[in-house]
Amino acid sequence: MKFFVDTADVNEIRELADTGLLDGVTTNPSLILKSGRDIMEVTKEICGLTDGPVSAEVTAMDYDGMMKEAAVLAEIADNVCIKLPLTMDGLKACKALTSAGHQTNVTLCFSATQALMAAKAGATYISPFIGRLDDMGIDGMELIEDIRAIYDNYGYDTQILAASIRTVNHVKDSAIAGADVATIPPSTLKALGKHPLTDKGLDAFMADWAKTGQKIG
Ligand code: G3P
Repeated sequence: MKFFVDTADVNEIRELADTGLLDGVTTNPSLILKSGRDIMEVTKEICGLTDGPVSAEVTAMDYDGMMKEAAVLAEIADNVCIKLPLTMDGLKACKALTSAGHQTNVTLCFSATQALMAAKAGATYISPFIGRLDDMGIDGMELIEDIRAIYDNYGYDTQILAASIRTVNHVKDSAIAGADVATIPPSTLKALGKHPLTDKGLDAFMADWAKTGQKIG
C-alpha cells in the first residue's frame, strides 16, 4: 500500500519524506488555506520534497476553467497530479487531461457509481472520503470495498486512494479492503508505527542493557 500525506505543511512533508516511507502528497483548497501559503509557491516546494505525485486541486467549476487552471498547475513540476472534483465538468476534464498524459485525482467521491464514472474517465486516482461518510453514520469502509469489487470486475487501472482518513484503524481497514493508497494526516501517519507495548518492551531492554555495562562497537 502506498502512503501519501494529506497536508500542505512543508515541514511535516520534509520530516516524513526523510523516512523514505512517503510515496506522495495530497493537498486541497482547505489545506492550502491552513498552510497560509501561495498555492503556486507551496506546491512547487512540495514537489521538490518528493518524487511521488503531488495532488493540486483546480478551483474552477466549469470545464474550460478547469482546463486552464490544470495547465497552470501542470507547469509547476512533472510530478503534479491534477485534482478534479467529481462533477460532470470534472469528469470531462479528467478524461481530457488523462488522454493528454497527465496524472489525475478525482476527489470528493461518496458513492460507488461516482467511482465507476471516474474510472471510465481514466482517472489515475479516485478519492473516496471515508471519514466524512462515517460522520453521517454511513460506513465509509463499505465504499472502499464496493469500489474494489467494481474495479476488479472490469479491470480498471484507476487506483483507490482512501481519503478523509482520521484514524489508524481507517488505514488498517483500507488496506484490508484493498485500497491502493491511503492519504493520511501527518499525525495519523506517524502514529501507524506506534504501540505502547513496543515502548514498554524497549524500555525494559534498555534498562537490562545498561546493567550489562556493555557497548556495541
Ligand atoms: O483527503 C481529503 C481530506 O483532506 C479531507 O479530510 O478530515 O476534512 O474529511 P477531512
